[in-house]
Amino acid sequence: ASKMTQISIPSPADFHVHLRQGQMATLVTPHVRKGGFSLAYIMPNLKPPVTTTAQALAYRAELEAIDPTVDYLMTLYLSPDLTPEEIVKAKEAGIVGVKSYPRGVTTNSDGGIESYEMYYPVFEAMQRVNMVLNLHGEVPSDAKTNTHILNAEPKFLTHLHSLHKAFPRLRIVLEHATTRAAVEAVKTCGPTVACTITAHHLELTVDDWAGQSFNFCKPVAKFPDDREALREVIREGHPRFFLGSDSAPHPVHSKSTSTPIQGCAAGIYTSPILLPLVAHFLESFDALDKLEGFVSTFGRRFYHRELTVENTHHVVMQKIGAHVVEEKYGADENSVVPFWAGKEISWQIVP
Ligand code: NCD
Ligand code: DOR
Ligand code: ZN
Ligand code: ZN
Repeated sequence: ASKMTQISIPSPADFHVHLRQGQMATLVTPHVRKGGFSLAYIMPNLKPPVTTTAQALAYRAELEAIDPTVDYLMTLYLSPDLTPEEIVKAKEAGIVGVKSYPRGVTTNSDGGIESYEMYYPVFEAMQRVNMVLNLHGEVPSDAKTNTHILNAEPKFLTHLHSLHKAFPRLRIVLEHATTRAAVEAVKTCGPTVACTITAHHLELTVDDWAGQSFNFCKPVAKFPDDREALREVIREGHPRFFLGSDSAPHPVHSKSTSTPIQGCAAGIYTSPILLPLVAHFLESFDALDKLEGFVSTFGRRFYHRELTVENTHHVVMQKIGAHVVEEKYGADENSVVPFWAGKEISWQIVP
């Protein structure tokens, strides 16, 4: 591999990020730009979830008030209240996608789905108006069928295939893939199906989150061979696989303490270090030459957000010795511990 010491990336785009509300939003929203990104695809799992066009527009205004320099692409939370009429309204208002969470699987997913058939009229409308369906690809744990967090994603893939078959023109994104099975499933689908990959799943395996709550997220990191499949598909430069950080901040107390009633919150926080972190990991498995496709071109193409000369802002990174990641951001009970805290990254954004 060539020894690059400077890279310039055109307008990096994070196609999956949680920016929360209120005080937490105030803390983490500026970190999108700090981490090198000018487009953020915003998850709707707030309290209460973002289920209407009006809520999504109000939420976008809240984020724009914090940092107006980022392009926020908004989503709605799939629920029985969502109607085909609301889909048409959402599309007209510039909302880009709808996120589906299986019930109870992760943070604020109590209102999620159990079966998809009841949503077919909504998907039909989404296909017609050209909205994107974002899938949290895990089925709920169930002892009767030996379903648990390690096989929840592979067991979900039959849903991906039936949705794609029923709605071949509907653009679908399998979010935060963690398994070889998921990578293979997406590859076998047509050009309307894509897949996001996080930074942290390029590094972690089961061993890293068992007993280390700051490495705990859903879907959990899987086996070394699964991690290898994620690395391979990036090294291959496959255009339907791109970055969605799933950066998901939680206050330090909800990560570092747990009780038998309230377990550790799922979520890994990568926004403030995202672009250097992704470069660091891609370089570690000899894929640095695929960085531009992975963090900019591929996702933008799938989402019809291609760059023009006017809207391109190059982010320059240099490799200038080791930089140690902050131990935390924010103060007191609202502080957040980032992924890779206290560890070194070799790339830095040139201010
Ligand atoms: C869509 C639009 O303008 O409504 N554009 C398009 O189909 N090329 C937006 C989109 O699909 O992303
Ligand atoms: O680990 C996760 N955290 N996975 C999700 O799907 C949700 C996210 C969150 O919102 O905290
Ligand atoms: Zn998810
Ligand atoms: Zn997420």
